[in-house]
Amino acid sequence: MGIKIAGTGMYVPEKILTNADLEKIVDTSDEWIQTRTGIKERHIADDNIPTSELAYHAALKALEDADVSADEIDLIIVASITTDKAFPSTSCILQSKLGASNAACFDLQAACSGLIYSLETAMYYIRGSKRYNKVLVLGAEKLSSITDWEDRSTCVLFGDGAAALVLERTDGDEECAIIASDLGADGNYGDILHLPAGGSAMPLTAENIGDRMQYLKMGGQEVFKLAVGAMVSSSNKVLEEAGVSRDEVKWLVPHQANYRILKAVASRLKIAEEKVYMNVDRYGNTSAASIGLCLDEMNRGNLVKSGDYVLLTAFGGGLTWGSMLLKWN
Ligand SMILES: CC(C)(COP(=O)(O)OP(=O)(O)OC[C@H]1O[C@@H](n2cnc3c(N)ncnc32)[C@H](O)[C@@H]1OP(=O)(O)O)[C@@H](O)C(=O)NCCC(=O)NCCS
Repeated sequence: MGIKIAGTGMYVPEKILTNADLEKIVDTSDEWIQTRTGIKERHIADDNIPTSELAYHAALKALEDADVSADEIDLIIVASITTDKAFPSTSCILQSKLGASNAACFDLQAACSGLIYSLETAMYYIRGSKRYNKVLVLGAEKLSSITDWEDRSTCVLFGDGAAALVLERTDGDEECAIIASDLGADGNYGDILHLPAGGSAMPLTAENIGDRMQYLKMGGQEVFKLAVGAMVSSSNKVLEEAGVSRDEVKWLVPHQANYRILKAVASRLKIAEEKVYMNVDRYGNTSAASIGLCLDEMNRGNLVKSGDYVLLTAFGGGLTWGSMLLKWN
């Protein structure tokens, strides 16, 4: 029994926020942002558009690409840190929008590593039970809703978007899309990248809203160092487990946090920069959506062909990290 990626899709809101636009909001410059991050612009959803709406448009495209109808989907997993509400889950809201009435639904929260965590979860559902033949996996984020637009050290980094993949059970092992994977976490570093208020630990009050606790906080330099180390060691584990050499990897697709992190990861893995897929310049960091945005662009741009090894690696709040080797089908 194998698993294949039957279809991909993505959606980003129309509105583009350029670095020049940000210069009018906070004390920053296009030069600073591009040198430190490689980001030129990001897409931002209107206030009245929730994450599920971004997910819906991405899902429609993935279903069409897979030639699968919504009612054939057995399970929907949405990876997100910006769910529509604490509950019901964004995957339930998406199920209703899609009319995917035969799907079980849950959200998965592993911050920027969410898509890799979700793909691995989907893989075990498909392998573990005949009930799950077709699984819709999404990374969907409206990060603009938790971004502090007065904090120049974070607001330049993030963007909104959603990506979807349809995973499908197949008869032949030769079509097994997920060759090897590794997930990890270290909760001791939770406070270096987090959203303090709005949960049970710090319910929203007028006072903590005044202190801007409803927005994402990050220790940038600490995150940078830990991100590179974790993605490199996790990628190495996956290559070793699969018995695939770095030279055989066609594409390295890291979570699109920023250009310097991507370059550092590639350099430490000794993978040439031309093999690193990057679109952080156009979308910024879209957390759980970012790897999915890359995979859809690569799929639709015919940059991947059957048999290609594609190495995914991600890092995010939690801390969480994960890597996965795909053999494209
Ligand atoms: C955020 C990041 C780009 C900042 O770069 P950095 O080189 O570490 O910059 P620093 O935080 O040391 O700040 C350097 C200076 O730039 C200033 N600065 C911060 N943001 C700025 C901005 N947008 N524009 C202009 N100046 C800015 C700081 O105030 C500081 O000024 P000072 O020296 O006068 O105090 C970098 O730390 C990073 O990429 N971290 C990883 C973040 C990430 O990817 N997180 C998500 C992981 S999933």
